[in-house]
Amino acid sequence: MKVLVTGGAGFLGSHLCDRLVAAGHEVLCVDNYFTGSRRNIAHLLTHPMFEIIRHDVTFPLYVETDRIFNLACPASPVHYQFDPVQTTKTSVHGAINMLGLAKRVRARILQASTSEVYGDPEVHPQPESYWGQVNPIGIRSCYDEGKRCAETLFFDYHRQHNLDIKVMRIFNTYGPRMHPHDGRVVSNFIVQALKGDDITIYGDGLQTRSFCYVDDLIEGMLRLMETESGFTGPVNIGNPGEFTMLELAERVLKLTGSHSKLVFKPLPSDDPRQRQPDIALAKEKLGWEPKVSLHDGLERTIHYFKTVLSA
Ligand SMILES: NC(=O)c1ccc[n+]([C@@H]2O[C@H](COP(=O)([O-])OP(=O)(O)OC[C@H]3O[C@@H](n4cnc5c(N)ncnc54)[C@H](O)[C@@H]3O)[C@@H](O)[C@H]2O)c1
Repeated sequence: MKVLVTGGAGFLGSHLCDRLVAAGHEVLCVDNYFTGSRRNIAHLLTHPMFEIIRHDVTFPLYVETDRIFNLACPASPVHYQFDPVQTTKTSVHGAINMLGLAKRVRARILQASTSEVYGDPEVHPQPESYWGQVNPIGIRSCYDEGKRCAETLFFDYHRQHNLDIKVMRIFNTYGPRMHPHDGRVVSNFIVQALKGDDITIYGDGLQTRSFCYVDDLIEGMLRLMETESGFTGPVNIGNPGEFTMLELAERVLKLTGSHSKLVFKPLPSDDPRQRQPDIALAKEKLGWEPKVSLHDGLERTIHYFKTVLSA
């Protein structure tokens, strides 16, 4: 099949391109390199089934394709808050442009949505039926509300134009090719530990997160794309294992052998206290559940950052 991946030079997108090329698909990667990097896809550039276009998804794109994976959007708060108007445009105009393309060529389209649509949840763990508690005017809103609006657009194109859509709600994912300075907690802790810098904990460190290893996440994404037409999701994909920031920091210190000290800083506004996916639907519909333990995933990610930092 011809497969279009927007945001294909990013962390998740580049792993997805790897899997699609390996499965024999013709892959067209589209990226404006805002947070993505050529290094993430350098090994694919000479592959006969891989092509990349520098393009901003806020502008229309005219190509032939059978499948669209819409991943283009900065995912870390540091990057999506850098230009919040552009973040909302990327989510909303990007969704409109990709849905318009899917409609024209009758392609199936998957949206990389996020657990941020649940905001600071009053329900724990979060099932897909939970509507969320989101601040519409805060510093995270450009991302959270942009992604919520994109979901609305996907479902309206489905109802109005009978488009074949899949909506995936991704929970915190980590692994090799994360940007070393993207400010997300796993890469932050690992980079700080490897450099011997202080490890920054926001708040008391007792807030929890769940961490999904990238290979598990991509497997879930591929399975969702190939579910029977008519099944739209949304589907949560993430690892239900729940850890406090302090537990994560201790594991990173142990695995890196670092003597970095923990330092505490004030919690940024709208930071959710808890986040944990309910993955019953993914188990039922995709036969999917995560396989890689936090220990193994951290080891592989630490190995990657050691190579990057010593280069
Ligand atoms: N990694 C996670 O934990 C996580 C969690 C929830 C949702 N997601 C979603 O998954 C997707 C990929 O996330 P990621 O972690 O790989 O982030 P990333 O920042 O590494 O990748 C995003 C990619 O999109 C590109 N991009 C940004 N704006 C663009 C635009 N206007 N036009 C074209 N390309 C553009 C960036 O250059 C980058 O390559 C995002 O949509 C994100 O919201 C990720």
